[in-house]
Amino acid sequence: MSAGYIDLHCHYVPGVDDGARTLDEARGMVEALGALGFEQVIATPHLRPGMFDNDRPGLIAAFAATHAALAGPALPRLALASEHYFDELNWRRLLEGQGLPYPGERAVLLEFYDIDFPPSIDQQLFELRRRGLLPVIAHPERYQCLWRRPETLERLVRAGAAALLDLAALIGKYGRHPQACAEELLERELYQAACSDAHRVQDVAQVAAGMQWIERRYGAEELDYLLAEGPRAILAGLGTV
Ligand SMILES: [Fe+2]
Repeated sequence: MSAGYIDLHCHYVPGVDDGARTLDEARGMVEALGALGFEQVIATPHLRPGMFDNDRPGLIAAFAATHAALAGPALPRLALASEHYFDELNWRRLLEGQGLPYPGERAVLLEFYDIDFPPSIDQQLFELRRRGLLPVIAHPERYQCLWRRPETLERLVRAGAAALLDLAALIGKYGRHPQACAEELLERELYQAACSDAHRVQDVAQVAAGMQWIERRYGAEELDYLLAEGPRAILAGLGTV
């Protein structure tokens, strides 16, 4: 079954970060997402210096091996990008073409320090857009600065960034504050898309519960927007403004 959904954030490439550990786990995750209606699942392994010391060539090679082992008509299409931790090294990598933007190189997934955004965030996101890359903010509901001031995300989205909801936040996977923040950001219509951020096969059940939550609260059209239309616009480099 496919509802034409696209997962923009998933950790199924085995052995490169805290995601899947084996090809069997990777297959299980992608299969389970396919059963929820995902027709494409984009791998976004961490580029996080000091924690997951990956680089572009290493991730391209690891993904190629995963793709060769798994790809087939029974599974969603597989593609590669990365979750870039927003530090100095990754900033340089992005400016020098050593990051891993989304396929088509129109958008890039960014993860921030969970307490606060850097003071220079507006200028840096502007610089990415100037270079033709739509900044995609991973799981904004987990950043403490947005629990207190959700309007900060409003400013960034209005300036041309995209916000990506981790579906499992809606059912409390990360605790009470991210859950409440996700609800608030949804209510403010700040998310352009939603994703699994799955690291294990078991995570997919929480993704399904998050999808049901959205459908119950906002209807099937909203789910379609967050998992099909929104992701397609992001891959084309288009924000909501
Ligand atoms: Fe992630």
